[in-house]
Amino acid sequence: MSHYRIAPSILSADFSRLGEEVRNVLLAGADFIHFDVMDNHYVPNLTVGPLVCKALRPHAIKDGVPAVIDVHLMVTPVDRIVPDFAEAGADIISFHPEASYHVDRTLTLIRDSGCKTGLVFNPATPLNVLEHVMDRVDLVLIMSVNPGFGGQSFIPEALRKLAEARALIDAYHERTGRTILLEVDGGVKVENIAEVARAGADTFVAGSAVFGAPDLDGGYRGPLGKLRSALATVGGR
Ligand code: DX5
Ligand code: ZN
Repeated sequence: MSHYRIAPSILSADFSRLGEEVRNVLLAGADFIHFDVMDNHYVPNLTVGPLVCKALRPHAIKDGVPAVIDVHLMVTPVDRIVPDFAEAGADIISFHPEASYHVDRTLTLIRDSGCKTGLVFNPATPLNVLEHVMDRVDLVLIMSVNPGFGGQSFIPEALRKLAEARALIDAYHERTGRTILLEVDGGVKVENIAEVARAGADTFVAGSAVFGAPDLDGGYRGPLGKLRSALATVGGR
């Protein structure tokens, strides 16, 4: 059985009927709901906040149980908004180390708020912060585009960083037995998802590749099925 997870980003969904879009992707086999939060400050775009997360929470149900809402914060300051998202029903809260003055403190704050933690690395950001805080990280997110917009092209250099992150995470798992997820975000398509998996990713954000390719009935079994079939050619994880 595949342990790969697919996390459709609602950034490319139809915002006039977000609840239905969330229900439809989960029905079609999505694992996580990726929730992109942008503030027109840390990134040059403005999206949604805790109110929308809370409104979507009851729609994010998979096989009768709550599905993971994977919140990707592209905001500064980070700490102010963390408890609000925890209260709104987020499961994972990820942030960019550049956006927090005290990365270790923010990780602790997320855990204390009852959520899992994620650290996000932009295309030009090295991974060295990670090595010092691995005990407090549950997910590493490698950006394969510059954050701010859906529908951009995958930056191939991200493959090398994924492999580097995979090696760090596997060595950490050997030492401690603890699993850290390795997620990739930006430009993931049917055409490149297998290569991205081979580089080491186990969790795949896909915005335009899913919401931009609905079935005739408005569902998403088609695009999710194609992404899964491409992953099935990789095996492993
Ligand atoms: C970009 C966002 C992504 C984006 C991905 O800043 O973090 O999650 O929605 O969209 P695609 O898959 O279209 O590149
Ligand atoms: Zn994202």
